Amino acid sequence: MSLPEFRLTAANAAPVTTDHKPLRRLHMITWGCQMNVYDSGKMSDVLAPLGYGPAESPADADMVILNTCHIRERATDKVFSELGRLRVIKETRAAEGKQTILAVAGCVAQAEGAFITERAPYVDIVLGPQTYHRLPEMVARAHRAAGPVIETDFPVEQKFDFLPETAPSAERAVTAFLTIQEGCDKFCSFCVVPYTRGAEASRPAAAVIAEAKHLVARGAREITLLGQNVNAYHGAGADGRDWGLARLAYALADIPGLDRIRYTTSHPRDMDDDLIAAHADLPALMPFLHLPVQSGSDRILAAMNRRHTADDYRRLIEKLRTARPDMAFSSDFIVGHPGETAADFEATMQLVRDIGFAQAYSFKYSPRPGTPAAGSPGMVAEPEKDGRLAELQALIRAQQDDFNARTVGLEIPVLVTGAGRHAGQINGRSPYLQAVHMDGPVSLTGQVVPVKVQGLMTNSLTATLINASPTQERASA
Ligand code: 5AD
Ligand code: SF4
Repeated sequence: MSLPEFRLTAANAAPVTTDHKPLRRLHMITWGCQMNVYDSGKMSDVLAPLGYGPAESPADADMVILNTCHIRERATDKVFSELGRLRVIKETRAAEGKQTILAVAGCVAQAEGAFITERAPYVDIVLGPQTYHRLPEMVARAHRAAGPVIETDFPVEQKFDFLPETAPSAERAVTAFLTIQEGCDKFCSFCVVPYTRGAEASRPAAAVIAEAKHLVARGAREITLLGQNVNAYHGAGADGRDWGLARLAYALADIPGLDRIRYTTSHPRDMDDDLIAAHADLPALMPFLHLPVQSGSDRILAAMNRRHTADDYRRLIEKLRTARPDMAFSSDFIVGHPGETAADFEATMQLVRDIGFAQAYSFKYSPRPGTPAAGSPGMVAEPEKDGRLAELQALIRAQQDDFNARTVGLEIPVLVTGAGRHAGQINGRSPYLQAVHMDGPVSLTGQVVPVKVQGLMTNSLTATLINASPTQERASA
């Protein structure tokens, strides 16, 4: 095992304060899921002690990191076209005597490795998602200009053990992400994640709890636990046993000031009874769950290697609704998986009608090289996929509109996230992740307040505060 030459610790990390002009500027471009958003934050944090502060645009940046996603079609083409644009900027800056380090991170970096620097030799660093803690060392090597630095191994050590806590310069945020688990062992037929993110690994519970406390101390009131297969979490607990997600949720719910807990993305197979019971017991666990089902046809679910049936999913939703009657659901669907017939697609439509989703994402199947489905017979023609996608999306849209319309007139708790666009207006977030706008004082930021939903806008709700105290009314006047 090769150990990093440079390891960031509290001892060698130079203090960074926002009063000082950063020595160097970093521009991050982030594509893909919330895990990537979290990882981009961590990459900024790991570089902050080297003097890197944020740059508004790549033209102002001494280093640009492109954090990529490989989940769906043309991911690699998209990366090379963005790199082409960054190359021009790098060359313009070079003509002005300025160096620009160009790094490609994330799942495309993991999947393509050295192919990226072969096709784009102006790229300095290619780093996979398991190697972010080694970024300072890679930057030092890139500065020495000894050729491209490529790090896409799955290292034996856990990257989490070496990543710093949120940097002192990081913005205070009322809502925060916290990665607790990475990778996936499920091997769904269509999916690249088990290949790009590797085997399932969970952080120890104590590390998660410490990071959650740190986030709360910095102002977070809502934490979304992240993982490719988050409800398969099985981190080492303080009692020497492995903790599941339910046990972790109970421990996190005890942190004073942490009002809301969410987790994403889950697999139906890992939705165990303890976790369902936690939804009944813990008011902090939000009654909104993203639970991808992918298809409503048992034949296609089997071909997808999902290892559950459509009725298993229906029963699971029923159990969750019994545990927490105000629970709402979101899901992911793929149309046109190899072998999907019109009847299979109709089974998906029926499942959607039966469940009634608050929202859902749907995608046309796109073959990912190296996955089992990519080599399967029975590819569905593109126009057929287009037709199915449009039909499914129209149904989902109608359900989403209906769900939002049903919140109008209700009294719901809203977490105030900050000032709105107009004077006297504040923004917040409903338990169902709906954006809410209302009149009120910015001093409510970070509080969960009761509101009455008054109306619907395109992507948000309007509401009024209930029982606003006289001070609040004066402040908002
Ligand atoms: N084609 C289409 N959609 C896909 N997804 C994952 N892989 C593919 C693919 N090859 C979708 C799944 C998953 C979501 C994150 O992306 O629905 O849940
Ligand atoms: Fe991909 Fe999710 Fe299936 Fe894992 S469970 S292989 S991440 S779709």
